[in-house]
Amino acid sequence: MIYARLSSASALLFAFATPSLAQETVTSPDGTIAVTVDVNGEGTPLYSVARHGEQLIAPSRLGFNLADEDPLRRNLELVSTTTSSGEERWEQPWGERRYVLDRHNELLTTFNHGETGRQISVRFRVFDDGVGFRYEFPERADKADWRIADELTEFNIALAGTAWWIQAGDWNRYEYIYHETPITSVATAHTPITFRLEDGTHMSIHEAALVDYSGMWLQRMDGQRLRATLAPSSRGAKVVRTGAFTTPWRTLRISSDAAGLVESDLELNLNEPNKLGDVSWFEPAKYIGIWWGMIRGDWSWAQGENHGATTERAKKYIDFAAEHGFRGVLIEGWNVGWDGNWFGNGRNYSFTESYPDFDFEEVAAYAESKGVRLIGHHETGGNIEVYEAQLEDGLDLYAANGIDVIKTGYVADAGSIISCNADIADPCEGQTMEWHDGQRQVQHHMKVITEAAKRKIAINPHEPVKATGLRRTYPNWVAREGARGQEYNAWGAFNNGPEHDPTLVYTRMLSGPMDYTPGVLGLVGSEGVPMASTKAKQLGLYLAIYSPIQMAADFIESLAEHPRELEFIKAVPADWEESHLIAGVVADYAIFARKDRNSTDWYVGGVNDATERQVTLSFDFLDDGASYEMQVWKDGPEATYLTEKRHDIAYETQTVTNSDSYTVRLAPGGGFAARLIPGEK
Ligand code: NOJ
Ligand code: CA
Repeated sequence: MIYARLSSASALLFAFATPSLAQETVTSPDGTIAVTVDVNGEGTPLYSVARHGEQLIAPSRLGFNLADEDPLRRNLELVSTTTSSGEERWEQPWGERRYVLDRHNELLTTFNHGETGRQISVRFRVFDDGVGFRYEFPERADKADWRIADELTEFNIALAGTAWWIQAGDWNRYEYIYHETPITSVATAHTPITFRLEDGTHMSIHEAALVDYSGMWLQRMDGQRLRATLAPSSRGAKVVRTGAFTTPWRTLRISSDAAGLVESDLELNLNEPNKLGDVSWFEPAKYIGIWWGMIRGDWSWAQGENHGATTERAKKYIDFAAEHGFRGVLIEGWNVGWDGNWFGNGRNYSFTESYPDFDFEEVAAYAESKGVRLIGHHETGGNIEVYEAQLEDGLDLYAANGIDVIKTGYVADAGSIISCNADIADPCEGQTMEWHDGQRQVQHHMKVITEAAKRKIAINPHEPVKATGLRRTYPNWVAREGARGQEYNAWGAFNNGPEHDPTLVYTRMLSGPMDYTPGVLGLVGSEGVPMASTKAKQLGLYLAIYSPIQMAADFIESLAEHPRELEFIKAVPADWEESHLIAGVVADYAIFARKDRNSTDWYVGGVNDATERQVTLSFDFLDDGASYEMQVWKDGPEATYLTEKRHDIAYETQTVTNSDSYTVRLAPGGGFAARLIPGEK
């Protein structure tokens, strides 16, 4: 039910004659979170956020600098307010949980800019688990475009605390090890950024529904005052929009504990409902591929004697997938364009023409005959001009051959997306560079997603823009990279330290599913470099890091050498009825309980940092009256990522009910995984 109640002042037709209003407050449905909107003496709009009466965000600015006219940052008057509420339970086609509750109160505030008569509105939605607000720009009579030089939204964090963050505006996009610092040491950060405040409050700042706008970075101005700074654009103005438009929502998840932060659906709730209708054609599933051999350097994407994507090797992987019930097989490097310098270049890519040692039609037909689907691959080297010119042909070829999931890629240093397309942005001549999260690239992703949806194809971009909950509106945007994934473990000993995975759970994963590519059971990268992971952790990752498409990333020979681990990987679902963080501390460890969406089985497990610990888990989430056979894959008694004992894994089987608890040792760099199958009632 959605209803609206107009406050008296909102009936005005012309703002000019109206006296400014006093401050307004809107609270969450449970009354714990309050947002207050005010205007200071110089006409700067401010908002603040309190929880249980304690201020978490001190009065913080709202506003904009514009590229071609006076800023909207002072001389603003609050001239109207409207309140409304909403309560709705909606169903996800796939995800961490089937049902999501959207319950919020809303306050729409409209400001009038005294000197120019321009208006701007800010809509606040307050939920029990956080706050979202966005700006709404009206259509105007005097001018077609709004040209935003920068957004001036601030987040003035009131309590001291710790922040987990990665730098923004640096060359490696989102692929960094997280910093853990006092909030007063944050520099310029990507979102989501996670905070634990001195009173124990867990909070994150992010954004929802990043559509036709530029991604938001956060720059610390002084103390604990963070300000939005938008990813730049080649056009000068960071955002150019015509007519009325809304910005993405600026979001604050707020919880008293880590589980509340991780389980919040705030950004999903702030996105528009599914626009694609029936998407049952997308099947959450697991896949294998030749990828690990390429990333390690055993095989190449380019032609040559070690070319990875050969017809023969693809068939071998298809046979393995068919034998073990993997739906997908990812083949990279089958298409023309990988020879020479493709990184940050991408000029030579063909998305339809295959290399001579790979017979695309034959391999696709072979897969179909075995009941397996190829997973398509569109690496662009960041050249979206070349990709967009061939996009429809590339998608058509895949669609015609039964391929319904495509991994895309934008390997280029941040700020090096090659774009020149008069259809979407301003016309440009020659080569123009854009950021991976600038408005142009945000537009590009939407073009790919919508074109793919027309053909019932799901998309999994690497080197993507961050996730902002758009999977609700476009459920074919199934996963993405957008963080330092397993691939880094191929490139140096302990390249992703043991803290990285439990940190991802509380940071990157707040934004949405990640194609992390777990399941490297051999635990070695290039030239035998060791990974900061025990064997059990590779299984725990399937529960810690959610994706509706989960890879078993290892070589098929290595998977076959680990039949008991393979048994778990084959069984673990990629689609859940419910998901709960049942134990965990930010960046230290994370243990989830997840219920299969298609059976009555539960799965429990997760990942640990470098500190050995005993964790006691309560099984109170299990159904009343049922007893379960619990099969466990856990760190062996001597397991540690630091030595060859990283391979030490132990197994046990127990019967448990919801009145039981279970204590498990997590090794340094360890983890565990368990499957719980209900028995007789
Ligand atoms: C980087 C991606 O993260 C990786 O998964 C992919 O294999 C290569 N680019 C080539 O597209
Ligand atoms: Ca990557």
